[in-house]
Amino acid sequence: MSILITGGAGYIGSHTCAELLNSGEDIVALDNFSNSSPDVIRRVKEISGRDFPLYAVDMLHEQGLRRVFEREDIEAVIHFAGYKAVGESVRMPLEYYNNNVAGSLTLFGVMRDYGCKKLVFSSSATVYGHSKEAPFREDTPLSAINPYGATKLMIEDILRDLYTSAPEWRISLLRYFNPIGAHPSGELGEEPSGIPNNLFPYISRVAQGKLERLYVFGDDYETPDGTCVRDYIHVCDLAEGHLAALRHIRGNTGAEAVNLGTGNGYSVFEALRAFENASGLTIPYEVTVRRQGDSAVMYADTTKAKALLGWSASRGLDEMCRDQWKYAGRNGDRL
Ligand code: WQD
Repeated sequence: MSILITGGAGYIGSHTCAELLNSGEDIVALDNFSNSSPDVIRRVKEISGRDFPLYAVDMLHEQGLRRVFEREDIEAVIHFAGYKAVGESVRMPLEYYNNNVAGSLTLFGVMRDYGCKKLVFSSSATVYGHSKEAPFREDTPLSAINPYGATKLMIEDILRDLYTSAPEWRISLLRYFNPIGAHPSGELGEEPSGIPNNLFPYISRVAQGKLERLYVFGDDYETPDGTCVRDYIHVCDLAEGHLAALRHIRGNTGAEAVNLGTGNGYSVFEALRAFENASGLTIPYEVTVRRQGDSAVMYADTTKAKALLGWSASRGLDEMCRDQWKYAGRNGDRL
């Protein structure tokens, strides 16, 4: 039996494909390549030394999804496919609700029809909204502060309702904090199209000379150095967390939310210094006004991940920066 990975050519999806293959799992990758490239799948095959089926299917194409379940023996699904840019979701809410929520509903309906009731869902710490309760526990009050976050919260609620209606389902809702870094091979990494919204891809572009300087969005927050604090987690730790969640749902029914973070918070200036140390470069920056919607402090309480999944992150910020910079150096022409 195989694990279907939707969004398998994406940043976290591709790293999870590699992790599952290296752990002996059989996988099937699915992607519509709206925000990724088939070359990423080639690279996953190269670094894992294993082949696997790939389907170019959109989540909204029900017949395309049914064809996958007809042809492949799918045991479980790890569902990454979705749009994920906060700012874009504010500008294009209908596209986000249709793609993320309607697409997920299509998938879940097809899974049910084929008797596939094991699911790991890619959720996000953004469902904690503007809660001020850092470190965030899974029972921290949930709220949506942008359409992207609203889609994640809606899909979580859909899955909780699905489990209530059919308690034979085995569901894990993984809430990512701030994924960064790249595969140590230098073959897989994050490739945002256009000007990056997120901190680390932006710093990486500045380091490559593709952008002039980093703009630090405010240094007047109530934090040790005035800049926002975030829980940056290595994408390989995140991939290992998905394997741990898959193993957990093999033996347990339920619909449990689990934080995937390190439990450590780093400020923008601390992150910048760590990247400078890893790259040996000085990153020019300018402090500007706050970015609308930013919270001052966000980092995970990691107790449940350890207790329920037997998983915790092991890679530190320096390793995250080194791997991010190695990837940029080997793929700079593509970024
Ligand atoms: C981190 C910090 C910025 C860019 C977002 C999504 C979240 C998740 C991860 C999907 C903040 C500061 C950033 C820049 C800056 N994505 N910053 N200059 O906002 O914590 O989380 O990505 O699940 O849902 O909301 O990440 O990397 O954008 O920002 O000063 O050019 O860096 O103010 O404090 P964020 P980020």
